[in-house]
Amino acid sequence: MKIQQNISLKQYNTFGIQVHAKRFVSVNSLTELTEVINVHKDVFLLGGGSNMLLTANIEKLVIHLNLKGIIVNDTEKDVVYVTAEAGENWHEFVLWCISQNYGGLENLSLIPGNVGTSPIQNIGAYGVEIKDTFHQLEALEINTGKIRIFNNADCNFGYRNSIFKNELKGKYIIINVTLKLTKNNHKLTTSYGAISTLLETIKNPTIKDISDAVIAIRQNKLPNPKEIGNSGSFFKNPVISKKHFELLKRNHPEIPHYIISNNEIKIPAGWLIEQCGFKGKRFGNAGVHTKQALVLVNYGEATGKEIYKLAQTIQQKVKKTFNIHLGIEVNIV
Ligand code: EPU
Repeated sequence: MKIQQNISLKQYNTFGIQVHAKRFVSVNSLTELTEVINVHKDVFLLGGGSNMLLTANIEKLVIHLNLKGIIVNDTEKDVVYVTAEAGENWHEFVLWCISQNYGGLENLSLIPGNVGTSPIQNIGAYGVEIKDTFHQLEALEINTGKIRIFNNADCNFGYRNSIFKNELKGKYIIINVTLKLTKNNHKLTTSYGAISTLLETIKNPTIKDISDAVIAIRQNKLPNPKEIGNSGSFFKNPVISKKHFELLKRNHPEIPHYIISNNEIKIPAGWLIEQCGFKGKRFGNAGVHTKQALVLVNYGEATGKEIYKLAQTIQQKVKKTFNIHLGIEVNIV
């Protein structure tokens, strides 16, 4: 294991931002990770780099988590427990599960990033979140070097949220994740508008059909980070009160929304941003995606600061126009 100096992180973050790590080490096993953690406590963890905006060089030791492997515990009749190491690519893992006919992750196809970071923001799409199949994870406590197991309830999962974004932020390194998947009688979630439309012609859709539909929808709407740097949804969909919603509806009868509870209405951030005129707009090297306004993009040489500035401009305009605060989903570093 070699600690390298002054390494460019451009290829390690899906936004494709050019910043440097003063010191950088790639770890391939738990033993290597433990060795590093025993000596260095002030570290910066890098997984798939898909949910971060790097705005400056990183002074801390950057640890690139490259732990690989999948283990299957197939002792029960209808379900199977699949453990994937943190450094496995999420989408490849989902495709592998589908190839084994393990159901539960098909709606989460093509989400960028690695397995190890997926629980941190409770990744979700098309009516499914990782919390729905999450069994447990193992994490290394940085201070003590001890391994702790977190079950589903321990993680405090919420919408794009978990304990690892709050109380335990920066305290643990997730080393593997175990999911409880179905072997038969898969519970399909096909209610999301675009999926049901695509599946209309298929009589008894399989998990592969759903995965294919999700991939088609995402490819059509979301930019491929390999072609245009981005971090998926940059903002969270805000939740407003019913009173606030009724007020907005007077001027915007068509406002899309999802009812969360009696007094909580979720509004798509993409719609708010589009209404403010930002969709498809370009500001130097930073921009708002043409097909989905809650995705900010790097057209090439944008700096993290440029993208962040655009995000703040959008936040201000949305606040002024709708009196809604748009929370940022991506980690600003
Ligand atoms: N909309 C617009 N303009 C836009 C984008 C969206 O008007 O530019 C409106 C449309 O009315 C549309 C509605 O917003 O019907 C919802 O759009 P979409 O189905 O694309 O979903 P979203 O709420 O914008 C969320 C997730 C996505 C996830 C999709 C599908 C968040 C922050 N984003 O987006 O997650 O793929 O639902 O489940 O919750 C990600 O996290 O990186 C991500 C892409």
